[in-house]
Amino acid sequence: MPAPASNSANSLDPARYRALVRPEGARYIETIDQRALPHRVVTTRIADAETAARAIREMWVRGAPLIGAVGAYGLALALVRDASEKALADAHARLDATRPTAVNLRWALDRVRNAVASLPERERADAAWREADAIAAEDVAINHAIGVHGLELLRDIARRKNAPVEVMTHCNAGALATCGWGTATAPVFLAHDAGIPVHVWVSETRPRLQGAHLTAWELAARGVPHTMFVDSAAGLLLRRGDVDLVIVGADRVAANGDVCNKIGTYDKALAAADNQVPFYAAVPSPTFDFALPSGDAIPIEMRDTEEVLSVEGSDGQEARSVRVAPAGTRAVNYAFDITPARLVAGLITERGIAPASPSGIRAMFPERGA
Ligand code: MRU
Repeated sequence: MPAPASNSANSLDPARYRALVRPEGARYIETIDQRALPHRVVTTRIADAETAARAIREMWVRGAPLIGAVGAYGLALALVRDASEKALADAHARLDATRPTAVNLRWALDRVRNAVASLPERERADAAWREADAIAAEDVAINHAIGVHGLELLRDIARRKNAPVEVMTHCNAGALATCGWGTATAPVFLAHDAGIPVHVWVSETRPRLQGAHLTAWELAARGVPHTMFVDSAAGLLLRRGDVDLVIVGADRVAANGDVCNKIGTYDKALAAADNQVPFYAAVPSPTFDFALPSGDAIPIEMRDTEEVLSVEGSDGQEARSVRVAPAGTRAVNYAFDITPARLVAGLITERGIAPASPSGIRAMFPERGA
């Protein structure tokens, strides 16, 4: 397991696992191949841009902030080999084309490109590595700040009830989806570390089971009580009053507050609204698409239907994929959906909790002129 990267002391994620590490001075990164979790912890070394692109496309690494960071390092790796204008443009385009929905990827690639564009070719690779390192370190600090603001929501609920705070989440917006802490998980991890009793409802998150494979693994690794449920049980749990709040991650948030996240998020937001349970999205600033007026224009990734027609698991010995539908069955595999702003109680950002509205987002990020 790669050792945690260093960053400012109080926002250092204490967990013994890290989705991504760049060993000091190395011209490569090490990542956990998340396809092997939870049954095996496999570390992969990424030492060229093609491998970085493949890791994103094939979801060795996934989660919006982590995709952004790996994209940034991918561009740095490309510039080590060839720092010409053409190579920069080609590598940017190839990495950007790996997955369409998480805006963090385009944000990170543009940031690295802008950081090197005016530099002589011989200085570009070093500058790109510095920029990628900065993106990774900032991500940890941003997520910790999201945790601090979200913690107040959990603390308020804990004060009101003499029982664990019941948090529902969807997919994996944990430390494995970022460079540390996670987004939706950061308030939970900080609450648990602060001794506030918390219990997490983990949706399995078909078809790739990020909840079952990754979120349950992280919560177990940190000793946080949790219970898994099939995606379709969310409505009943919310109606029964088993849940105090829902906190999910996001892949892209439009300027009006519409939230794009893993397929199945919208269903949970509808059921939460129908049962007066507050629904929050944890959103680092790179995940806002301030130029997009609403969620309607967000590109929704469609992935291989094999992911729907079969399921991944372990037979106790090794990982296996088994078919769940008869041969020849047609399937559709939308990877994300849009939760309209009207169903969102708030956007937990590193600057505080913003209303999911144009004015709320503008007030939180005035410099972005949304
Ligand atoms: O397809 P994935 O696993 O990349 O989808 C991940 C999600 O939808 C996460 O909730 C989102 O990226 C936020 S990660 C902090």
